[in-house]
Amino acid sequence: MSPAMTSDALVFFGATGDLAYKKIFSALQAMIVRGTLNVPIIGVAKAGWTLDQLVARAKDSLEKHGGLDESAWSKLSKLLRYVDGDYADSATFAAVRKELGDSQSPAHYLAIPPSLFNTVVKQIAESGCSRGARVIVEKPFGHDLASAQILNQILLSEFTESSIFRIDHYLAKGPVHNMVSFRFANCFLEPLWNKEHVESIQIMMAEDFGIEGRGAFYDQTGTIRDVIQNHLFQIVCNLAMEAPSNDDSESMRDEKVRVLKAIPEIVPEDVVRGQFIGYLNEPGVDSGSKMETFAALKLKISSPRWEGVPFYIRSGKSLPTTCTEVVARMRKTAPTKLNQASCPQNYIRFRISPEVTVAMAVSVVSPAGQASRRSVEMIATRHAEAHEMEAYERVLTDAMAGDPTLFARQDYVEEAWRIVDPILRNPVSVIRYEPNTWGPSEATVIPPGGWHTPRPELADDFRLV
Ligand code: BG6
Repeated sequence: MSPAMTSDALVFFGATGDLAYKKIFSALQAMIVRGTLNVPIIGVAKAGWTLDQLVARAKDSLEKHGGLDESAWSKLSKLLRYVDGDYADSATFAAVRKELGDSQSPAHYLAIPPSLFNTVVKQIAESGCSRGARVIVEKPFGHDLASAQILNQILLSEFTESSIFRIDHYLAKGPVHNMVSFRFANCFLEPLWNKEHVESIQIMMAEDFGIEGRGAFYDQTGTIRDVIQNHLFQIVCNLAMEAPSNDDSESMRDEKVRVLKAIPEIVPEDVVRGQFIGYLNEPGVDSGSKMETFAALKLKISSPRWEGVPFYIRSGKSLPTTCTEVVARMRKTAPTKLNQASCPQNYIRFRISPEVTVAMAVSVVSPAGQASRRSVEMIATRHAEAHEMEAYERVLTDAMAGDPTLFARQDYVEEAWRIVDPILRNPVSVIRYEPNTWGPSEATVIPPGGWHTPRPELADDFRLV
């Protein structure tokens, strides 16, 4: 299939699932509003449902997540089809083939657990549904390096790399993918963005909710596989990569892989794993589970730009707030009469969500007088606007249009697993923590100077605080 050809049908495996309900129906509605989706959407699942039930579920999902747009909904409900059946049963795929009618270039979206990929991919191929098709797969892609390699072999046995789209919706968040151009387009930042001036970088993804009914998935996954190996490593790459030599998707993806290749495997001493108290009572969770719902770790990047600068990552469920933020602590300037040891450290802060912020903490004379100094932030912040593309709308639009830029390539996924594999194989003990706290107190020891704690932003503006 020509890379520029837009998919002429969307087959959506896992249509009755949680991801579909929370994110996908609203993305499909948004695509209709924007005029980028007007093809049959064939939901597939083993739920014993009818098309009417799927349509009712989609409507309910839209009402709960972002609101129903009457005109777009009227179109979306007419585009929906439904095939109910077991993924191991070839009759299910014969029914999908029939629904595809004369489609020449369908996109198969696998919003299903990785353990089902093998069966589904084989069935797609055997039923003749893979001709001219793309396949879109959800993260986590595999369970570890070995399983990711096997999944890649399975996909590559039926699809070419250019028709495989490995989703990481974090990549499609505006502030994540804009970070690269922001870094290289601003002369105040690029000269400072290296080991000479940056002391350490912290990347934090906190969520103030638990696992929200996803116990069966989460207990097989945990924080490192769920968000660190993928979402947060994408942020590491965007923060650390060199400027690509071209603006095409492969040059960009080459540079990201280069960052991962420079990261040594994580050692157990650099990891803290936590589990919130109450997790073991969640439906679908094993009563003796040792799975982490929190992880804090340290990465090293052995590159000329970053040698000796630690990258700290912290993420967890049931923390005090929901926020994804990066803080780069800058090295102190050489001491002078005007700049004593007590002078606060400068830092640069990027907030990715819930608002988008770029802030610089600078040291100024405090009102108390010349001798004392305090840190103030210069902030530019803004809240999302109604017309902005949500991440899932962007990834589905791009995959159906055949643009691979915002998707993880095979070598990227395998490098990312290589880095975390040792700590997944030999996990350090999990430490319990109270919900609504910043995880086990042991995690506070990882970065010298402690973890940055996010504070609420105030308004949409540019201001000094
Ligand atoms: C998903 C994880 O990939 O990302 C979830 O499976 C997590 O556990 C979610 O909550 C966060 O994404 P967002 O876009 O809601 O910040």
